Amino acid sequence: MATFVELLTKAKMPIVGLGTWKSAPGQVKEAVKAAIDAGYRHFDCAPVYGNESEVGEAIQEKLKEKVVKREDLFIVSKLWSTFFERPLVKEACRKTLQDLKLDYLDIYLIHWPQGLKPGKELLPKDDAGNLLCSKATFVDAWEAMEELVDEGLVKAIGVSNFNHFQIERLLNKPGLKHKPVTNQVECHPYLTQEKLIQYCQSKDIAVTAYSPLGSPDRPWARPEDPSLLEHPKIKEIAAKHNKTPAQVLIRFHIQRNVVVIPKSANPKRIVENFQVFDFQLSDEEMATVLGFNQNWRVCLLKETVLLDEYPFHADY
Ligand code: A2P
Repeated sequence: MATFVELLTKAKMPIVGLGTWKSAPGQVKEAVKAAIDAGYRHFDCAPVYGNESEVGEAIQEKLKEKVVKREDLFIVSKLWSTFFERPLVKEACRKTLQDLKLDYLDIYLIHWPQGLKPGKELLPKDDAGNLLCSKATFVDAWEAMEELVDEGLVKAIGVSNFNHFQIERLLNKPGLKHKPVTNQVECHPYLTQEKLIQYCQSKDIAVTAYSPLGSPDRPWARPEDPSLLEHPKIKEIAAKHNKTPAQVLIRFHIQRNVVVIPKSANPKRIVENFQVFDFQLSDEEMATVLGFNQNWRVCLLKETVLLDEYPFHADY
């Protein structure tokens, strides 16, 4: 039986969802269908993953087969940085809804806090190769996202990759109509995010952990990078519970009341990653795993490091 995290809006967000970043369009449809069959109800999507249309096909098929009802699903998508200008926010949301073949999203997130110049390029650059930012900031985007809630296109709004100063700016915004319900950030034993989790949870903002397995399929992986799935101590804890390292890495978040979205395109591993509600890591094991922190990030988006609002200069 899956469990939920209750959001500020009182909506129940399933604590384990399927990540779809890096799931190829040709694979993601089967993955989403397998996940629904395995009991997943939460799907984490984004237009920049280039596969929302196929995710939508899978959802449609399962709705038509009456395996699930729309209200039992929890669908999250994200606004990319080149769409921060007010009219573009609604356009981007409508495109995502059209691709996912839905009439509302459960949560719409600002994918990344830095606004970039609108246009076809996801990372627009000038002739010298410098990234171009937009006039609109995440605060502008937020105000337009609030209208999406009022119009019923999305049930709730949130942020991703925000540091606590950036969240604080939203919370202190004069005339704030809707608070962020979640901050989706990279989180795993090499990036335990203790301060950011403590901050968000103290503000009733749920934390969602992406790359919980360390994203071994990230395109920029180097052989010398640390591997979570191969960590001897994680393997040892897993063996003790008769579980796999991936299941331990997923369970770690559940016990912190952190929503977690492991990605898999493999039906067997999709099932495995959901079998995480029948064991408990001890306090000592949790402390051991927390001790692996080394502030190591999979996702740095280095191209944006020199622009304003780069989120990871701050301590948290
Ligand atoms: P695959 O999609 O072939 O299953 P993250 O969620 O941290 O981004 O990690 C996703 C990566 O982890 C993918 O390469 C995925 O491969 C792999 N993965 C997902 N689940 C498991 C599992 N249970 N055991 C081993 N590797 C897994």
